Amino acid sequence: MRMYDLIARKKHGGTLTKEEIAFMVEGYAEGRIPDYQMSAMLMAIWFQGMDDEETIELTKCMAKSGDMLDLSAIHGKTVDKHSTGGVGDKTTLVAAPIVAACGGKVAKMSGRGLGHTGGTVDKLESIPGVRTVLDRQKFLETVERCGMSIIGQSGNLAPADKKLYALRDVTATVDSIPLIASSIMSKKLAAGSDGILLDVKTGSGAFMKTLDDSVKLAQTMVAIGEGAGRCTLALITDMDTPLGNAIGNSLEVMEAMDVLKGHGSADLTEVSLQLAANMLCLVGKGELDECRGMAEASIADGTAFETFCAMVREQGGDDSVLRDYSRFPRAPYQKAILADADGYIVKMNAEECGIASVLLGAGRETKESGIDGSAGILMKKKYGDKVSKGEALATLYTSREESLQEAERMYRDAVTIGSAAAAPRPLIYARVEHGKVEKYREERE
Ligand code: URA
Repeated sequence: MRMYDLIARKKHGGTLTKEEIAFMVEGYAEGRIPDYQMSAMLMAIWFQGMDDEETIELTKCMAKSGDMLDLSAIHGKTVDKHSTGGVGDKTTLVAAPIVAACGGKVAKMSGRGLGHTGGTVDKLESIPGVRTVLDRQKFLETVERCGMSIIGQSGNLAPADKKLYALRDVTATVDSIPLIASSIMSKKLAAGSDGILLDVKTGSGAFMKTLDDSVKLAQTMVAIGEGAGRCTLALITDMDTPLGNAIGNSLEVMEAMDVLKGHGSADLTEVSLQLAANMLCLVGKGELDECRGMAEASIADGTAFETFCAMVREQGGDDSVLRDYSRFPRAPYQKAILADADGYIVKMNAEECGIASVLLGAGRETKESGIDGSAGILMKKKYGDKVSKGEALATLYTSREESLQEAERMYRDAVTIGSAAAAPRPLIYARVEHGKVEKYREERE
């Protein structure tokens, strides 16, 4: 078999067999196929696409290139959740404890922040003492004891994807539905859960900017999950505007805890409850409306909050900060951003808000740079809100005083104040099952 022939076939829109895909993935992971040939193949895939069978095969080969986690020691059904990435997206910190409090088992490997988007592991590590590197035994024990554990991705999870993703990043081939779907799902299959809930973001802060593309990506990922024998569902949720009121690691933890205590922001509460209810469906706890009721009850009776605190303690963290936020380390510099006109917020670009928070130290500028757990933005006014000149739009928090001016400029660019009220936006656009798309709202205008 020659890589040259496979590239030539894909270039003309042909399909690759199971054996050919295995030859290509194994050969690239093991260094027999050079970057220049794989780059040509990625570009051919970008133009010609892959059918469902090819995409499923590519995903399975990438998943099998490293460790495949065995979660069979855990009693009960396990469920995982994946977000395609967003700004202010702290839903894992809310949905996972709700699911665990209702009897599901959440064994979750999460990522760190990437570009303008945040990552659950960075948020969790802003809680003093929490460890996100656990050995396999401790990870499984934590899930057994607390119903959940969230740790960082193991170094050997889908290494073929890691190598391919780095190549895609420098060859302008990231934004391809079969390549994104196989990349995400290879890690989900290797992470071993019985059920997988996908939160596919749509809008300015997301990979997929249109609803159509988001639905296509969701359908592809659901087909891969089901094809590999995992119960898989997707929700398409809004990422045109940041989710909730906080961006930045410890600020987001506090906001997530407010939801678990029953007084969180309305948008974050709604999206988290929907995600949790769907995760409960995946582990067989009932129909969607019954699962929603259980999820709400676990907030009302405090069990979801206590479940999260128990996990934090089990992973070495100090849960007293979750009960008394004044115990969190505080950013030394703060600045309020005031509205320069009367009107309504008619646009809030999620990506630019995310970049402003990175400038303040809440994300990484390079792979090597550290994170400031206390840096970020608390938004006082969101999309649709009425504002008066001089009123606070947001407060910036940082340890780098010199970054305040640039971050303020970026945040002001992200927010547009108009004279007429903007139309309300949906939080959830659609639910995607295998072979079925249920649209809740029509396409954004
Ligand atoms: N996240 C991934 O893990 N892979 C992609 O290709 C895109 C987002």
